Amino acid sequence: MRCYHNELVVRVSKSDAGEVGLEDYLISRKSLIDGRLEAILEGATIPSVMKEPIETALRSPGKRIRGLLTIAAAEASRAARTDPIVTAAAAVEMIHTCSLILDDLPAMDDAELRRGNPAFHRSFGEDRAILTAVALLNHAYALVAEAHAAASPRRYPATELIERISSAVGWDGSIGGEAVDLHSSSRPLDFETLEYIHSRKTGALFVASAAIGCMLANGSRPSLAAVESYARNLGLAFQITDDILDVTSTVDELGKDVGQDAERLTFVRLAGIDGARQLAGELIETAIEAVTPFGAAGKRLIQLASMVRDRSS
Ligand code: IPE
Ligand code: IPE
Ligand code: MG
Ligand code: MG
Repeated sequence: MRCYHNELVVRVSKSDAGEVGLEDYLISRKSLIDGRLEAILEGATIPSVMKEPIETALRSPGKRIRGLLTIAAAEASRAARTDPIVTAAAAVEMIHTCSLILDDLPAMDDAELRRGNPAFHRSFGEDRAILTAVALLNHAYALVAEAHAAASPRRYPATELIERISSAVGWDGSIGGEAVDLHSSSRPLDFETLEYIHSRKTGALFVASAAIGCMLANGSRPSLAAVESYARNLGLAFQITDDILDVTSTVDELGKDVGQDAERLTFVRLAGIDGARQLAGELIETAIEAVTPFGAAGKRLIQLASMVRDRSS
């Protein structure tokens, strides 16, 4: 059996979810995710030529917002066990890291910097960047299946979880969104096109991350619909704030390239910075409304949404 840093799991009991401050909450949940990624690394057999790339990918310092969504959605749905949820949170973060490695490739955005470090292919070459990305994706699916087996939620078969997560990064998910984004220069700059791109390249994984948290907690179908509606709005708002930061922030503040979206279709180009901010704010409000039925249990989802609205990195 794989060992999963159980001491961290013990630190997070269900009862303290409503009591600790947001900062401590984020630190504790983030360290659960990072601990699980570390444990996955410890349990992995990797050929020496791939060791450093895989280690770098699993340890690269992201905000872990998608994994936090999985955990907060599970908590809102009153998950009985933390361990499988953290496994799923690590899986969605691996999928996200995969998407960033691919997004940064010379054939895509040709980025120089990511998470404060050289873009992956600049350290390891395009060959190992692509191989690492695909490996992360492949192992992530197994982790979602493993999380399902451990949680065995009565309402949701494993196939449903796997379908959710794989289609989120499939041709009608982030792959579709990335492709249209890259080939969008001749498209009209209108709301529908932007919504198509953003909701897929970024929103789809937000929705799946929150959905599998709720499903692993065996949340009701109405709870699942509420969490998905929340994440759909949040995901779109997140990409809009990302496009705003792309023009208002510095490389040092973001730890990644800025000014990259000048040729792309973005809400900032459509509506200006103020218009984009207003739209993001409205989406956040709608996201928050969607989870009010959870009452106090939905507090962390609401806080995460406010965090996205106010984010500066
Ligand atoms: C960056 O996502 C890519 C977008 C979808 C905008 P994050 O801002 O969540 O990246 P990390 O994981 O914190 O590096
Ligand atoms: C990233 O979109 C979306 C995915 C990785 C799927 P962007 O290209 O707009 O994000 P950054 O600015 O590189 O993080
Ligand atoms: Mg891109
Ligand atoms: Mg990019």
